[in-house]
Amino acid sequence: MNDRPAPAWFVAGTDTEIGKTLVACALLHKLRTRFTRVVGAKPVAAGLEANGINADVTRLRAASNLQVPAELDNPYALREPVSPHLAARAEGRVIDLHRIANAVAQLRLLAEAVVVEGVGGLLVPLSDTADGGDLARLLRLPVVLVVGLKLGCLNHALLTQEAIASRGLHFAGWVGNSIDPAMLRADDNLTTLRSRLRAPCLGVIAHMTAPDAAQAAHRLDLPT
Ligand SMILES: Nc1ncnc2c1ncn2[C@@H]1O[C@H](COP(=O)(O)OP(=O)(O)O)[C@@H](O)[C@H]1O
Ligand SMILES: [Mg+2]
Repeated sequence: MNDRPAPAWFVAGTDTEIGKTLVACALLHKLRTRFTRVVGAKPVAAGLEANGINADVTRLRAASNLQVPAELDNPYALREPVSPHLAARAEGRVIDLHRIANAVAQLRLLAEAVVVEGVGGLLVPLSDTADGGDLARLLRLPVVLVVGLKLGCLNHALLTQEAIASRGLHFAGWVGNSIDPAMLRADDNLTTLRSRLRAPCLGVIAHMTAPDAAQAAHRLDLPT
């Protein structure tokens, strides 16, 4: 148990399926070189594997060197792989941001560093009234934005930057993730992102035939 909350980051993405889990796991690998108690969390996950566990949660646990009960690292494991507010509604549940904040606060006392993966894009609805940006604001965590490098990513990244700013969140850095090997003018897009995003680039991850978080970690700097 720490006396003070450990550093923690909120990993947001320009979209779903653009590399948030890969980057969150890479950050965990990087943090493990410094700390013996590092944990990843996915407070809201929609879609479960045959074992009843969400695939992202399994990947984050594999990248963590501290294992915690599911109520701490994945308080909401929803069955349907749809927007969380719809998945929760289908089960007659309501996602309570305060329950998530309590879980993250406990993780920050148990671990030396915590990486929280958001769900979908930043403003994905979590309930009838709240979205992912509200969650990041309640958690008061610096945001690491994963930009999935593909056509359209400049607009998505800039819109997300606006949302980060309008919620009063700290934009700690961004990561370019080459999810589309056929992307045209990828370097020019990166130059544009570097000039227009008002946070440091923490790294650019190349497209990998067999995506591997430990390998991706070599391409990343930790946010300060
Ligand atoms: N740099 C990369 N190279 C190749 N495949 C990638 C890369 N980044 C992510 N992927 C693949 O894209 C998919 C989505 O990545 P993931 O990290 O799960 O995204 P998210 O958490 O944003 O939904 C996964 O199948 C992952 O293996
Ligand atoms: Mg994910």
